[in-house]
Amino acid sequence: MNKVLNKWFRKTHRWLAVPTALLIPMAVVIRFSGNPSWQAFLKSFEMAQSLLMLILAITGAYLFLLPYLTKWQREKTRSA
Ligand code: HEM
Repeated sequence: MNKVLNKWFRKTHRWLAVPTALLIPMAVVIRFSGNPSWQAFLKSFEMAQSLLMLILAITGAYLFLLPYLTKWQREKTRSA
Protein backbone atom coordinates (compact mmCIF):
# COMPACT_ATOMS: atom_id res chain seq x y z
CA MET A 1 0.00 0.00 0.00
CA ASN A 2 1.04 3.57 -0.59
CA LYS A 3 2.93 4.70 2.54
CA VAL A 4 1.97 8.38 2.18
CA LEU A 5 -1.71 7.48 1.82
CA ASN A 6 -1.54 5.20 4.87
CA LYS A 7 0.06 7.96 6.91
CA TRP A 8 -2.57 10.54 5.93
CA PHE A 9 -5.51 8.23 6.49
CA ARG A 10 -4.22 7.42 9.99
CA LYS A 11 -3.47 11.08 10.73
CA THR A 12 -6.92 12.18 9.52
CA HIS A 13 -8.60 9.44 11.55
CA ARG A 14 -6.60 10.31 14.66
CA TRP A 15 -7.19 14.07 14.56
CA LEU A 16 -10.86 13.90 13.61
CA ALA A 17 -11.31 11.61 16.59
CA VAL A 18 -10.68 14.59 18.90
CA PRO A 19 -13.61 16.86 17.85
CA THR A 20 -15.82 13.79 17.43
CA ALA A 21 -15.04 12.53 20.93
CA LEU A 22 -16.01 15.97 22.28
CA LEU A 23 -19.04 16.53 20.08
CA ILE A 24 -20.81 13.16 20.48
CA PRO A 25 -21.02 13.09 24.31
CA MET A 26 -22.00 16.79 24.23
CA ALA A 27 -24.80 15.99 21.76
CA VAL A 28 -26.05 13.11 23.94
CA VAL A 29 -26.13 15.29 27.07
CA ILE A 30 -27.95 18.11 25.23
CA ARG A 31 -30.48 15.69 23.72
CA PHE A 32 -31.34 14.27 27.15
CA SER A 33 -31.38 17.67 28.83
CA GLY A 34 -34.59 18.65 27.03
CA ASN A 35 -33.60 22.33 26.96
CA PRO A 36 -35.13 23.77 23.70
CA SER A 37 -32.51 26.48 23.11
CA TRP A 38 -29.71 23.92 23.53
CA GLN A 39 -31.58 21.60 21.14
CA ALA A 40 -31.61 24.38 18.53
CA PHE A 41 -27.88 24.94 19.11
CA LEU A 42 -27.32 21.20 18.64
CA LYS A 43 -29.28 21.24 15.37
CA SER A 44 -26.71 23.65 13.88
CA PHE A 45 -23.99 21.05 14.57
CA GLU A 46 -25.86 18.08 13.08
CA MET A 47 -24.21 18.41 9.67
CA ALA A 48 -20.72 18.59 11.22
CA GLN A 49 -21.42 15.48 13.29
CA SER A 50 -22.58 13.47 10.29
CA LEU A 51 -19.61 14.62 8.24
CA LEU A 52 -17.11 13.73 10.99
CA MET A 53 -18.67 10.30 11.43
CA LEU A 54 -18.66 9.70 7.68
CA ILE A 55 -14.96 10.58 7.33
CA LEU A 56 -14.10 8.50 10.42
CA ALA A 57 -16.05 5.55 9.02
CA ILE A 58 -14.27 5.77 5.63
CA THR A 59 -10.77 6.25 7.08
CA GLY A 60 -11.51 3.64 9.80
CA ALA A 61 -12.61 1.10 7.19
CA TYR A 62 -9.37 1.76 5.30
CA LEU A 63 -7.30 1.30 8.49
CA PHE A 64 -9.17 -1.90 9.21
CA LEU A 65 -8.53 -3.32 5.73
CA LEU A 66 -4.89 -2.15 5.62
CA PRO A 67 -3.23 -5.23 7.21
CA TYR A 68 -5.22 -7.56 4.93
CA LEU A 69 -4.42 -5.52 1.82
CA THR A 70 -0.71 -5.43 2.75
CA LYS A 71 -0.68 -9.18 3.34
CA TRP A 72 -2.48 -9.82 0.06
CA GLN A 73 -0.05 -7.58 -1.85
CA ARG A 74 2.99 -9.21 -0.22
CA GLU A 75 1.77 -12.66 -1.19
CA LYS A 76 1.05 -11.47 -4.73
CA THR A 77 4.59 -10.08 -5.23
CA ARG A 78 6.14 -13.19 -3.63
CA SER A 79 4.38 -15.58 -5.99
CA ALA A 80 5.08 -13.39 -9.07
C1 HEM B 1 -17.00 4.91 12.50
C2 HEM B 1 -16.29 3.89 12.30
C3 HEM B 1 -14.85 3.67 12.75
C4 HEM B 1 -14.11 2.66 12.28
C5 HEM B 1 -14.54 1.61 11.25
C6 HEM B 1 -12.81 2.74 12.93
C7 HEM B 1 -11.76 1.87 12.73
C8 HEM B 1 -10.48 2.02 13.21
C9 HEM B 1 -9.37 1.16 12.89
C10 HEM B 1 -9.43 -0.10 12.04
C11 HEM B 1 -8.28 1.66 13.51
C12 HEM B 1 -6.85 1.11 13.45
C13 HEM B 1 -6.59 0.17 14.60
C14 HEM B 1 -5.17 -0.36 14.50
O1 HEM B 1 -4.67 -0.63 13.44
O2 HEM B 1 -4.54 -0.49 15.57
C15 HEM B 1 -8.68 2.84 14.24
C16 HEM B 1 -7.86 3.62 15.01
C17 HEM B 1 -8.28 4.67 15.75
N1 HEM B 1 -9.57 5.13 15.88
FE1 HEM B 1 -11.17 4.50 14.81
N2 HEM B 1 -12.81 3.81 13.79
C18 HEM B 1 -14.04 4.41 13.72
C19 HEM B 1 -14.46 5.48 14.45
C20 HEM B 1 -13.69 6.13 15.39
C21 HEM B 1 -14.19 7.16 16.28
C22 HEM B 1 -15.64 7.64 16.34
C23 HEM B 1 -13.12 7.54 17.04
C24 HEM B 1 -13.06 8.55 18.13
C25 HEM B 1 -13.88 9.52 18.32
C26 HEM B 1 -11.95 6.80 16.61
C27 HEM B 1 -10.67 6.94 17.12
C28 HEM B 1 -9.57 6.22 16.72
C29 HEM B 1 -8.19 6.49 17.13
C30 HEM B 1 -7.73 7.63 18.04
C31 HEM B 1 -7.39 5.53 16.53
C32 HEM B 1 -5.85 5.39 16.64
C33 HEM B 1 -5.25 6.15 15.45
C34 HEM B 1 -3.73 5.96 15.34
O3 HEM B 1 -3.24 4.84 15.40
O4 HEM B 1 -3.06 6.96 15.17
N3 HEM B 1 -12.35 5.94 15.62
N4 HEM B 1 -10.03 3.04 14.04
